[in-house]
Amino acid sequence: MSTIPYKIYLEESEMPKYWYNLRADMKQKPAPLLNPGTHRPMTAAELSGVFCEELVKQELDNDTREYPIPQEILSFYRMYRPSPLVRAYCLEEKLKTPAKIYYKFEGNNTSGSHKLNSAVAQAYYAKQQGLKGVTTETGAGQWGTALSMACSYFGVYGASVTPSPSETTQVGKKILSEHPGTTGSLGCAISEAVEVAVSNPGYRYVLGSVLNQVLLHQSVIGVETKIAMDKYGIRPDIIIGCAGGGSNLGGLIAPFMGEKLRGERDYRFIAVEPASCPSLTRGVYAYDFADTGMVCPLAKMYTLGSDFIPAPNHAGGLRYHGMSPILSELYDQGMLEAVSVPQTSVFDAAETFARVEGILPAPESSHAIKVALDEAIRCRETGEEKTILFGLTGTGYFDLVAYEKYHNGLMDDYVPTDAELEQYRARLPRI
Ligand SMILES: Cc1ncc(COP(=O)(O)O)c(C=O)c1O
Repeated sequence: MSTIPYKIYLEESEMPKYWYNLRADMKQKPAPLLNPGTHRPMTAAELSGVFCEELVKQELDNDTREYPIPQEILSFYRMYRPSPLVRAYCLEEKLKTPAKIYYKFEGNNTSGSHKLNSAVAQAYYAKQQGLKGVTTETGAGQWGTALSMACSYFGVYGASVTPSPSETTQVGKKILSEHPGTTGSLGCAISEAVEVAVSNPGYRYVLGSVLNQVLLHQSVIGVETKIAMDKYGIRPDIIIGCAGGGSNLGGLIAPFMGEKLRGERDYRFIAVEPASCPSLTRGVYAYDFADTGMVCPLAKMYTLGSDFIPAPNHAGGLRYHGMSPILSELYDQGMLEAVSVPQTSVFDAAETFARVEGILPAPESSHAIKVALDEAIRCRETGEEKTILFGLTGTGYFDLVAYEKYHNGLMDDYVPTDAELEQYRARLPRI
């Protein structure tokens, strides 16, 4: 009988009291955001027209290792944290693998995902600054739901929902005229949300991924995981996460990557992205617009080009054309691996997982499941007893239509050709 329980729940008193800023341990820091007009690094004054002041500070701070989590945010976290670290005994049994599989489950809250960890922080700082409201984009709906919940808790107004691209903004109209019939992307919605924020006094824009500040807030996932693993003497060999804009993966790996960067311990980190939107595996590391309408600062990141829009048959999130500058820099340094997987294989993995672990996973999270299964099966073949940790970022209840499509055999895989990707690459800004 193993001493490791199926679910490790920390005591509330053991929860992290700080966010860990991975940038403090990176010798080569992520490249700064650039002003799209001057191509000079964005200053705090320039950014504070778009983001709350405290979030600007966090965005630009490459040096402070630990940020104490404000008491109000800690109290909110206690509503749904600590989240369980699950030993997937049933999955191991099903796969007949000697690997030990763990997942950190972030779907146990109203928004159904990890997104609430940053939404509550961003709504709190908006409230602190006395703002009237915030604007944002959302893809499959997890981030939008999380932000609505956080805003209503702190009494901050989160504007009404408008499908993007829309006729209600200048940039939306421009995108629609240039790409008639487009199904849109996160990049389009970001442009529109930023325009609404900067043209309404008392409003700021908040983003659910990509930015340094969001990875900082999401470090609560990794720090909590590490506390739980250390408590039971568990050492992961491989840490896997799905990667859209990079926030859950950046948060999960943060304290482990910190150890690797400081030369204390080695781990394998794997980012998993969709084959239909392969920014790390097939993109280029270059300065690009963070949004399709080209109104945001330029970020140096692995990118497919800011006007890249995944094929309409792509289900769920992970549709962003770029990747967090922190993860991009780590990938460029060879500290992180990346793989891309076709979506039908992701839904196959999701179904295997749901049948034995009893959780319907989000399609996004299922990218991580797919690669965790592949690694566990490899262990079965080699006999290695590796310890595999992956991030189960959320539940799939926003995505039942996609599951239905999969079950009815109507889902297929679309992988962009090199020639298609080259067209987008050719339009990258010249910096
Ligand atoms: C459940 C879930 N997991 C993962 C992601 C990917 O976002 P990120 O890469 O920022 O963690 C999203 C957002 O699209 C999501 O809703």
